[in-house]
Amino acid sequence: MANILITGASGFIGSFLVEEGLKNGFQVYAGIRKSSSRQYLGDPRIHFLELDFSTTAKVKDTLLACREKNLRFQYIVHNAGLTKARKKEDFYNVNCLNTIHFIEALVETEMVPEKFVFISSLAAYGPGNPETGQPVRLADEPRPIELYGKSKLEAERYITSLKDFPWLIIRPTGVYGPKEKDYFIFFQTINRGMEPYIGFRKQVLTFIYVRDLVRLVFLALGSGIVRKAYFVSDGKEYPSELFAEITKRVLGRKTVRFTVPLGMVRMIAVAGEKVSSLWGGMPTLNTDKYNVLRSTNWRCEVEPLQSDFGFTAGYDLEKGVEEAIAWYKKEGWL
Ligand SMILES: NC(=O)c1ccc[n+]([C@@H]2O[C@H](COP(=O)([O-])OP(=O)(O)OC[C@H]3O[C@@H](n4cnc5c(N)ncnc54)[C@H](OP(=O)(O)O)[C@@H]3O)[C@@H](O)[C@H]2O)c1
Repeated sequence: MANILITGASGFIGSFLVEEGLKNGFQVYAGIRKSSSRQYLGDPRIHFLELDFSTTAKVKDTLLACREKNLRFQYIVHNAGLTKARKKEDFYNVNCLNTIHFIEALVETEMVPEKFVFISSLAAYGPGNPETGQPVRLADEPRPIELYGKSKLEAERYITSLKDFPWLIIRPTGVYGPKEKDYFIFFQTINRGMEPYIGFRKQVLTFIYVRDLVRLVFLALGSGIVRKAYFVSDGKEYPSELFAEITKRVLGRKTVRFTVPLGMVRMIAVAGEKVSSLWGGMPTLNTDKYNVLRSTNWRCEVEPLQSDFGFTAGYDLEKGVEEAIAWYKKEGWL
């Protein structure tokens, strides 16, 4: 049985990666921190590995201890990352620097796996052209519009500069599903009878349901392909009104629709940043977030998923939202 190490295993996507790894017959090592919750990692077959990525030396110590016990990882999915940060520099430190420390340690301890999957993000490339409406393509020049995407791109640039390193880069668009906490806020808002929009321009969103994403990751691991990057969505596009329509239908709710003008959102973001800068923090609504909210084209090229891995999404938004909302209700979140 092959060993797989999944970092960020305690998080939303990580816990599904762990479940999928077990389903696929791997010996699964959940890479976590001392402080990580194990709430969603209850399966007794899971092995745990505490990793501190803050320096190369610390990761090396852990890897050397594994090597001494004859424990090697044939596969690694480096999924640990920050999508939100309290301080600007956290994005770079966690998403980029930690990735560099991890890979340096793997190389220096001669623990390089057969395949190393880096979970990046569509944000590393930024949105597509709003005028043409064309999807972001693999051949495009990356144009991240916020620090999060920039930090993922920096990590990608380091990874792709390595000689003979067996990387695969996966760049999902918005991922939703059980346990997820950001789209959940939208579901909760609709459930309370409010349907908010930001700005008057039409937005086209893309999504991938978490179970489809983790299935794709394991198809990619099992393929002979290395040193290639992929965008991941369910292949469909959804005007933001459709996202709301589907959610309302699934929740059986009527809503009051309202639009917050972009100018007002920007004002709040700028003011919040000024205040937070006094203690070096970053507010939830900041100018980065504003840039994301005002982008209208989140289409991305996904045809290579089908041609390289035979992947087609099993969930469209309607099916995924139904399953996610059923989970939120069962768990008492909604
Ligand atoms: N959710 C999306 O829509 C989306 C879209 C595209 C890409 N992604 C990428 O997918 C990955 C997982 O995201 P998610 O949505 O599952 O986020 P999440 O629920 O917040 O999980 C993040 C995971 O990363 C770990 N982590 C954070 N900082 C760390 C550090 N300094 N050292 C070690 N581990 C650390 C967390 O550990 P603790 O539990 O200890 O905090 C947690 O296990 C990220 O790399 C993210 O950029 C997410």
